[in-house]
Amino acid sequence: MKRIGMLTSGGDCQALNAAMRGVVKSITNAEKDVEIYGFLEGYKGLIYGNFTMLTGKDFSGILTKGGTILGSSRTPFKLIREPDENGLDKVEAMKQNYYKLKLDCLVILGGNGTHKTANLLREEGLNVVTLPKTIDNDLWGTDMTFGFQTAVDIATEAIDRIHTTADSHGRVFIVEVMGHKVGWLTLNAGMASGADIILIPEIPYDIDKIIEKIHERTARGSKFTILAVAEGAISKKDAKLSKKEYKEKMKNYKYPSVSYEIADLLREKAGVDVRVTVPGHTQRGGSPCPYDRVFASRLGSEAGKLILKGEYGFMVGIKNREIIKVPLEEVAGKLKSVSADATIVKEAKMLGISFGD
Ligand code: F6P
Repeated sequence: MKRIGMLTSGGDCQALNAAMRGVVKSITNAEKDVEIYGFLEGYKGLIYGNFTMLTGKDFSGILTKGGTILGSSRTPFKLIREPDENGLDKVEAMKQNYYKLKLDCLVILGGNGTHKTANLLREEGLNVVTLPKTIDNDLWGTDMTFGFQTAVDIATEAIDRIHTTADSHGRVFIVEVMGHKVGWLTLNAGMASGADIILIPEIPYDIDKIIEKIHERTARGSKFTILAVAEGAISKKDAKLSKKEYKEKMKNYKYPSVSYEIADLLREKAGVDVRVTVPGHTQRGGSPCPYDRVFASRLGSEAGKLILKGEYGFMVGIKNREIIKVPLEEVAGKLKSVSADATIVKEAKMLGISFGD
């Protein structure tokens, strides 16, 4: 008999269901006596003992379904050691529920914050296997996270569609792509859609360099310019501010996001007609693309294999197209960001794409 607890935590993404289906199918095909406890809304479910019993049937027909059948929520790692509003010790509560249900292990699907808590639970003695989800692709220890490829497809389509209208009107368009800390999504969607300028958090921009690129394009006869801008894009000036100074600046910030600030500066300094488009959470919604369906299924299947063998304390990821297991302590707390010297950045620059640097 195997008793498996499962939860999805943090911002959702596509293929969470496909990954859980992979885990459950691979285990139930090998072992008949399995109990699955689905904790609802992420770690909250484990903390407050909110779960539903699931069978193999519940995982049927969900391969192509977006979102997560378990629901999700954010439980900030920095607050995990702080008691809740009723004085409950959250870590202790999670351990108690795990032991009360006599679980053999927890399968945790999540991104960066989720992995910090998963590793903490491992340190506390629980058996944990994790799967890397996030449209940001910023998890250390894996070349890819599931959800990323689908989000690239969606953001690419948004920018593709902007091209035709930008051309008709001879406008500058800014498409804001998700990613506060890293620019993988913006970089890939920007390159896939032929954006002229790509701004990512890892490469601070200079507004004058952006204007230079727009003028260069106009001089060459191009009527329009497309900027793919990450939510976390930052100017060289702001990047030099201390954390405190930056916080102070943001207190009086009049824009909904950085894209609108850039748009205003471009109107003011370059006198161009600018529009901003924000695809927002559409990038996390809907059905996973075929790549993510296969990828998440493979990860789920390999996670199932680890559980059947009783090997715990790992995240299942991918390296050089092979599925691998990475010790959780190597993953937790590390961010995989785009290096300004990465070959992909150099290649993009050779194609004429400006990073505003
Ligand atoms: O971490 C994934 C992510 O989608 C980021 O790209 C984005 O900045 C953030 O979550 C949005 O979070 P929320 O759904 O809480 O608004």
